[in-house]
Amino acid sequence: MSSSSIDSVLTETRSFAPPEEFARAARVRSLAEYEELYAKAERDPEAFWAEVAGELQWAKPWTRVLDWSLPDAKWFIGGRLNASVSCVDRHAQGARKNKAAILFEGEPGDTRVITYGQLHREVCRAANALTALGVKPGEFVAIYMPMIPEAAIAMLACARIGAPHTVVFGGFSAEALRDRIDDCQAKAVITADGGWRRGAVIPLKDNVDAAIDGTTVSKVVVVRRCNNDIAWKDGRDVWWHDIIDAASAKHEALAHDSEHPLFSLYTSGTTGKPKGILHSTGGYLTNAAYTSKLVFDLRDDDVFWCTADIGWVTGHSYVVYGPLANGATVLMYEGAPNAPRSSAFTSGHATGIGLDRFWDIIERWGVTVFYTAPTAIRAFMKWGDQHPAAHDLSSLRLLGSVGEPINPEAWMWYRKTIGGDRCPIVDTWWQTETGAIMISPLPGATPTKPGSATRPLPGIAVDVVNKDGQPVPAGSGGFLVIKRPWPSMLRTIWGDHERFTKTYFGEIDGVYFAGDGARRDEDGYYWIMGRVDDVINVAGHRLSTMEVESALVSHPKVAEAAVVGRPDEMKGQAIVAFVTPRSGFVADEILGKELREHVVKEIGALARPEEIRFAEALPKTRSGKIMRRLLREVASGSKARGDTTTLEDQGVLEKLAQSFDKEE
Ligand code: WT7
Repeated sequence: MSSSSIDSVLTETRSFAPPEEFARAARVRSLAEYEELYAKAERDPEAFWAEVAGELQWAKPWTRVLDWSLPDAKWFIGGRLNASVSCVDRHAQGARKNKAAILFEGEPGDTRVITYGQLHREVCRAANALTALGVKPGEFVAIYMPMIPEAAIAMLACARIGAPHTVVFGGFSAEALRDRIDDCQAKAVITADGGWRRGAVIPLKDNVDAAIDGTTVSKVVVVRRCNNDIAWKDGRDVWWHDIIDAASAKHEALAHDSEHPLFSLYTSGTTGKPKGILHSTGGYLTNAAYTSKLVFDLRDDDVFWCTADIGWVTGHSYVVYGPLANGATVLMYEGAPNAPRSSAFTSGHATGIGLDRFWDIIERWGVTVFYTAPTAIRAFMKWGDQHPAAHDLSSLRLLGSVGEPINPEAWMWYRKTIGGDRCPIVDTWWQTETGAIMISPLPGATPTKPGSATRPLPGIAVDVVNKDGQPVPAGSGGFLVIKRPWPSMLRTIWGDHERFTKTYFGEIDGVYFAGDGARRDEDGYYWIMGRVDDVINVAGHRLSTMEVESALVSHPKVAEAAVVGRPDEMKGQAIVAFVTPRSGFVADEILGKELREHVVKEIGALARPEEIRFAEALPKTRSGKIMRRLLREVASGSKARGDTTTLEDQGVLEKLAQSFDKEE
């Protein structure tokens, strides 16, 4: 752990009170009410969480709320429930039967509305179909899909039959998909022939074909989306519509143990191998539902649009499980934020170039709550105010931000240009591991400061401490920790409980260490400063420098590689790779291009290095450790934009290394 990056302190003094009109109708209406709720949870955390969990539908009540033996937490012990019943059945069987659960817009412009009643039948059919294919409780199913309703239906169907899902983002490569399938020994993959992205087809089925030879996968279920040509293997591949049509719409959901794994989701840690973050059923759903209700203040007439892909935890908690557990209406959009609707769906009208697609969607569907990432907000800013200005955004009442620190400038733009100075902004801090939002304003209660995630949610005990676990004074930087277990805490890293213990509970004694640096100001507000480990955040996507390094050194022409993040105005961070080629290979543009493509093949386009800098040797300490801090400084000093390949001046690197060696 290094603390170098957390000393730079943002200073932002502006503060915005929750808009009065919003506060009047909100669930929590004032800072005093928030503080009361927070204090109540602190007085008796178990009673507090029991009350929250009570809002789910349990088939059998728990006998004990919490069993905590660091680092292992079990929640709602003995309780049994089915996540899909809490998210679907109880609404479908009540007053929300004909309420829209999912509003869908495909990138071309095709649309669908799925009511809770319909969602229930689809989930039941899919559950029956998966069972008929031989999927058993406890067996993993990989989901590799575009953002279409079938993705959510597939997740809920897996939950229903107790087969944990592992959703793999459609932007990951065949290699990355194979690694994940291998790790969890998935028995089936649910995919689509393709998905639309900026007018092109992402060849999902082709990637699956390339990924699964020699793995545990025996069935591939394919949703027809793009009608593109795909290869077919009889006996292994089945069409989603064939098995769904043949399946009954009646399915009796068995109740699963509260601790039954609901899903695993792979995320990057500090080593080359992504880790399968395992979440439980009862605890995870409790926090997903609770935070959706409190942070987004969801009401029955809301149209909630979280723009995250279901391949990320944000899509799990705030496209599927959280809002649906609350009986809310969610919007799902398949494609890119800068893709126009095709004239086939706009009665032949000119559709422009698509830079206003999100605002067009908000206007046409009447979106009321909008939740997106700072990288997207910065891109919208750059594209220009004329795009949102061309649309009526008055349906919006609340805005959210997630995934990376939001710079005050982007925050102010978001508030004014998208929110019309009328909508509160919730900057929400959390992680794949936390399962749900941990630090965030409550929109009707917490005055906001641009760039701060403000204060922890009731029930969540966070702190900023030094390496010894001692709280640091207000205003100083330190490590962000969570002091008490919470229901949606990850239960383990799949197949590697030791790594789980070491990573999260081995760094700072007795508490969960998140990997982020933070500062708490005099008002108790948290300012997240970013990762203090070798994890980088590129456009809100989490990557490990080591993961990209492993991809690079797996190339036959590479002797050694070191990857660092460089601050980037748009993406937060950009990937810079320092590479030493094996002798006999020329360090030139062509090799640079080859290496970039290799990384895309190994991981996916999201990991493509923006800059490749060839060096005869990498600077190392006397004990042989690569001097990453030095490389970070070298990388930050450069102004390169766009894919670039350069040759490092070895003399400069060596001279710098000498001066760093003295410090380190
Ligand atoms: C890391 C977790 C769970 C949301 C999607 C990302 C960074 C997340 C914020 C925020 C500053 C943030 C942290 C965290 N992060 N939200 N509001 N302000 N930083 O999930 O891929 O597991 O990444 O994202 O560094 O550790 P993830």
